[in-house]
Amino acid sequence: MSHATTPKPLTSKACGPLKGRVRPPGDKSVSHRAFLLGLLCVGETRISGLLEGEDVLNTGRACAQLGAKIERVGEGQWTVRGVGLGAVLAPAETLDFGNAGTGSRLMMGVVGGHGITARFDGDASLRKRPMRRILDPLVLMGAEVLEQAEGGRCPILLKGTRDPAPIEYRTPVPSAQIKSAVLLAGLNARGRTTVIETEASRDHTEKMLTYFGATLTCEPFGDHGRKITLEGRPELSPRPIAVPVDPSSAAFLIAAALLVEGSDVVVEGVMTNPLRNGFVATLLEMGANIDVLEIREEGGEQVADLRVRHSALTGVDVPADRAPAMIDEYIILAVLAAFAKGATRMNGLQELRVKESDRLAATAAGLRANGVSATIEGDDLIVEGAGACGGGGLVETHLDHRLAMSFLVMGLASQNPVTVDDETMIATSFPTFKPLLAELGADFFS
Ligand code: S3P
Repeated sequence: MSHATTPKPLTSKACGPLKGRVRPPGDKSVSHRAFLLGLLCVGETRISGLLEGEDVLNTGRACAQLGAKIERVGEGQWTVRGVGLGAVLAPAETLDFGNAGTGSRLMMGVVGGHGITARFDGDASLRKRPMRRILDPLVLMGAEVLEQAEGGRCPILLKGTRDPAPIEYRTPVPSAQIKSAVLLAGLNARGRTTVIETEASRDHTEKMLTYFGATLTCEPFGDHGRKITLEGRPELSPRPIAVPVDPSSAAFLIAAALLVEGSDVVVEGVMTNPLRNGFVATLLEMGANIDVLEIREEGGEQVADLRVRHSALTGVDVPADRAPAMIDEYIILAVLAAFAKGATRMNGLQELRVKESDRLAATAAGLRANGVSATIEGDDLIVEGAGACGGGGLVETHLDHRLAMSFLVMGLASQNPVTVDDETMIATSFPTFKPLLAELGADFFS
């Protein structure tokens, strides 16, 4: 669904202590992959705990356009009747991914590895995002880009190949989306597809492919990297998927509890996959009072309940090699850094420039609008924490859900209210953001 609704500003203001237990929604990355792998199996995949956000629903609609029968059978409960690997249908209409970078890029992998042609498009934010990084390896495998907007952007008309070449591909930047697109195209190749990444990125595609019966190996590569090899044309069998809680959504609730004085909140069932855990690791270094409780397994991932109490934080230096494990959490970390004592330096944030917005520039601008000193040096962001935050600013969100949520959290602990220019994009990843925070005691007003 392209996002064409009227912007809706929203304001948050200082509130009393946040208290209670909350369970944020399912993980966005896992939810997209659940629909896509469901499409590529013959038979019924049952999904529970699916994130019912606009991004994931757009991926579901696109899977239906390629032949899957998708049904909602209860809250977060979905079934997918797939058509199977090698048998996806050519969509009659454009695949409109709205704001969803992950959905569109992973689906390019599926289309690239099948003998079908599909047009990809989305909202103004998606149309700005670089797609050459996905198309380049797909072209090496035999796909053709028939049409593209300037700079390899959407709208894109992609013609896949029914016989993709198995390749060895080294990703130019650490990106689970590039890795996943190559692996999804490689599924239909006769032979082995290998992806090398010099910094390991989230491994949900590898885990889910293995769970569905593919043969995939994963070896260490260099100091921080991985080499992933997939045997083509596996027999994929549908298996039930329980989607664990999204640590990137949990991050906003954790941050709110840390910032609002007197808070004591338990965030339940948060996925603690080590390739997604950089945010909590950084918070512990900053002196956050977080207890990791009831470590267990849900849906093939380690999860835990996180008890979070209001904490006085100290600025830290966040190493560049941690970026892939917390790539979506830098905006909210920058907000937390504003309330910390001393400077926080976040190193190696070049990838933030090509997210739903230019997050590096937009985060610095949002902080400054609220009286916080923020500087960009090369690819690093430096926030001077003053132990408190004046607030009072109006923040431009550029169709970026995480900018909206991060600055609304800022307002819950600032001296003056904070307003974001548009809250509508929050529905792409965390539709229950406002009600969950309100349950804990937060105040928002339109
Ligand atoms: C995602 C990977 C990340 C992340 C995005 C979700 C995924 O992007 O920012 O929100 O599900 O694979 P990159 O892999 O491009 O860094």
